[in-house]
Amino acid sequence: MRGGEDIDPGRRNALMTAKILDGRAFADTTRARVAEHVTRLRNDHGLVPGLAVVLVGEDPASQVYVRSKGRKTREAGMESFEHLLPADTPEGDLLALVERLNADPAVHGILVQLPLPDHVDAARVLDAISPAKDVDGFHVLNVGRLGTGQGAMVPCTPLGCLMLLRDHLGDMSGLDAVILGRSNIVGKPMAQLLLAENCTVTIAHSRTRDLDALVRRADILVAAVGRPGMVPGGWVKPGATVLDVGINRLPAEEEGGKTRLVGDVDFASAAEVAGAITPVPGGVGPMTIACLLANTVAACCRINGLRPPEGLTP
Ligand code: GUN
Repeated sequence: MRGGEDIDPGRRNALMTAKILDGRAFADTTRARVAEHVTRLRNDHGLVPGLAVVLVGEDPASQVYVRSKGRKTREAGMESFEHLLPADTPEGDLLALVERLNADPAVHGILVQLPLPDHVDAARVLDAISPAKDVDGFHVLNVGRLGTGQGAMVPCTPLGCLMLLRDHLGDMSGLDAVILGRSNIVGKPMAQLLLAENCTVTIAHSRTRDLDALVRRADILVAAVGRPGMVPGGWVKPGATVLDVGINRLPAEEEGGKTRLVGDVDFASAAEVAGAITPVPGGVGPMTIACLLANTVAACCRINGLRPPEGLTP
């Protein structure tokens, strides 16, 4: 189902070339605004926002993400605390570390990198994080607050998607939004955020019937399933806004010796039909870390009785 062979000629004739939504540039701007706010907190209040990141095990992709989060945190003028633990760390030790971070006044945000090893109950660890420091928005209290519109800490990837959509579309009232994927990290919180924007929201998943017909109705399509190129251009509604959350590494042997990152959407064919589309890499990915930094600054403000920066939180 890869490639654009199945775009019918009538649709091809329209040959819209999509606007590329440059997540890298948007993330640079967002991080610069975070850094400005960090300077203000330091100068006016003597506060330095601190983010603790916990990684259990040696998953190479997670190691790359964690290193990148630490670097960007420091670049924004904030404190980064990295806790790299062996894969066989007992759950009790992890819970004890979370408790210490909850009590540490220098730590305003706590992120436990997922996935965790099988012997650890991930939900128990995530729910041990103080909701006020839960910059991932994965604590059950923040999940409930998001679902009931009570000012939650919002998960970083859907928040990045929302910022890109607001910037490109403005008012989204009445638009049909289709989300591919029902994960707790992306699909479900994305649905809540788009509902709050007054979209008509459908979450599709592996058991959804007539997926192509459903996707063709979407004014907004968010693809977050982790299957390289599964959405061909022929499924995309002309003029739709397409956010590709997938980051799939194609094996070197299939790509002439070099690995290549691709999204869940077949970019070349979809870009001929969509009104706007995020590339992979350089689309949604960079927004995730920018939103993590924004959530950490917001947490630091709230913990210290200050108003969080406007425009950086939903
Ligand atoms: N693993 C993949 N994405 C994420 C994320 O957004 N947060 C955490 N904690 N782990 C992840």
